[in-house]
Amino acid sequence: MADAKVEQGRPDAVTGGTGLPTAEELAAAGLLLDIDGAVATVALNRPERRNAMTFTLWRTLARIGRSLPAEVRVVVLRGEGSCFSAGIDLGMFSGEGEGFADGSDEAAADAFIADLQQGYTWLRRPEIVTIAQVHGHAIGGAFQLALACDIRVIADDTRFCMKEPALGLVPDLTGTKPLVEIVGLNRALELCLTARTVLADEALRLGLAETVVPAADLPGAVADLTASLLAVNAGAAVATKRLLQQASENTLEQQCAAERREQIGRLREMFGGAAQG
Ligand code: CAA
Repeated sequence: MADAKVEQGRPDAVTGGTGLPTAEELAAAGLLLDIDGAVATVALNRPERRNAMTFTLWRTLARIGRSLPAEVRVVVLRGEGSCFSAGIDLGMFSGEGEGFADGSDEAAADAFIADLQQGYTWLRRPEIVTIAQVHGHAIGGAFQLALACDIRVIADDTRFCMKEPALGLVPDLTGTKPLVEIVGLNRALELCLTARTVLADEALRLGLAETVVPAADLPGAVADLTASLLAVNAGAAVATKRLLQQASENTLEQQCAAERREQIGRLREMFGGAAQG
């Protein structure tokens, strides 16, 4: 992967973006960032610690999300070394070098976790399609990172595990909603409350992966998928993701109305129709 390009991203009106992290900030977070036109690749890069994730890593992910150049349409998340990631750096629980919320101040702990969750929520934005390129272990916060992505392309050596309950905690990095939506309440309960490992074949069967390939073919499979995604009209991709995201919570009537709204927007853009009424 090429060195991270350090450049200013678009400002974010809501959260006040401060631009993409510098190369030094990325290194301190254990991340690599490569932006090549419409494709951004974020790599978890602490292979000697199995890409264990720190609070700084999650905050830096959020900043990347806030600062991505507008031309980026596909974001790929991957891990350097032998696995995607071993989840939270267990040193975080002892507050090693970083602030730690022990829950004694409820409001402070709530704000602390909300801040970390922002490292995950941006991956749902309709303007981008996010791909988790997973190999080896994807544990806890790393499994949740894969769940935050739109599409999971995984190697046949992938091992997903929602480890948090086994550590006395709950999955709190936005993973419970997609997990239940994908596998259903009962299977989600079984997976979380046993903290068992899901291998690639089962992940495919459960819908936790869209594609499983031999480990050696993983980068090529993601590159092919990326090319297919970029071949589709950009405006249609954004509108369609927005539409699909609301489908399960809308009534049929609401969804039909949403389809009409989005299509009218597409027609206006494609054929130059002016708004009436
Ligand atoms: N945090 C900190 N260091 C970690 C780590 C982690 N999560 N996972 C691995 N490492 C370190 C090891 O301590 C080891 O360091 P040393 O070389 O200094 O001894 C190094 O990485 C290599 O680890 P292993 O020798 O264990 O590597 P392996 O390939 O044999 O095994 C593994 C890999 C199965 C992932 C194993 O390391 C492991 O079980 N790690 C812990 C996983 C875990 O419990 N993660 C927490 C999940 S919960 C969560 O993420 C969310 C939350 O908020 C609670």
